[in-house]
Amino acid sequence: MSAKLKTNSPRRKGPKAGNAKPGPAVPPRWRTEVERVLIAEEQIARRIKSLAREIERDFRGREMVVVSLLNGTVMFLADLIRHLNLPLRLDFMGVSSYGLGMEAGELVFTKELRLDVRGRDVLLVDDILDTGKTMSRVLPKVQALKPRRIKICVMLDKPSRRTEDITADYVGFEIPDLFVVGYGLDFAERYRNLPFVGVLHPHVYQQACQRVCQK
Ligand code: PRP
Repeated sequence: MSAKLKTNSPRRKGPKAGNAKPGPAVPPRWRTEVERVLIAEEQIARRIKSLAREIERDFRGREMVVVSLLNGTVMFLADLIRHLNLPLRLDFMGVSSYGLGMEAGELVFTKELRLDVRGRDVLLVDDILDTGKTMSRVLPKVQALKPRRIKICVMLDKPSRRTEDITADYVGFEIPDLFVVGYGLDFAERYRNLPFVGVLHPHVYQQACQRVCQK
């Protein structure tokens, strides 16, 4: 991927999640599907406050447009912007990879931006930067609208899976290559409502794979 896709700032690594001491217990309702809590609700809340302070410092005095990618950002976005003590406008882009849930399929744009971002400072928000394929499609599309600058903010960064030359400017947590759900992230559109980030039990996606593969 060309250097044009970079947002001209060094990558700010988030704290690593997943290597520390065991997290809190998985709530009983989710125990058969979720193996463990990777990032607890309280940890997320603390990190988002400090991310918001970083973003405020960089965007102070500018009129900011937050562009959030649907659907996975729903929880992160709501928590992040309520801690951003800046004037901002909010818009959404719909982009989805229609795959089975483990491996991304074809990328489809389901909603375009409505706000004019020309000459504005844009904060692109996504829940996870994984292979980077989504961001590498979204970034040139937004760049074509001639904003003054674009910064990328993601809740989770999985650098070990990256296939595209994309980095985020603000990262909530760097995570290992685990199948994570919750706090907006789904598997087959489920688990987005978990208030924590958890690791999905392999049997859940193995079963789903078998169902689809047998068809
Ligand atoms: C997920 C996630 C990111 C993208 C990251 O989107 O929300 O946008 O995958 O993966 P990548 O870096 O490998 O491209 P998904 O298409 O699953 O849609 P969703 O936001 O509705 O869950």
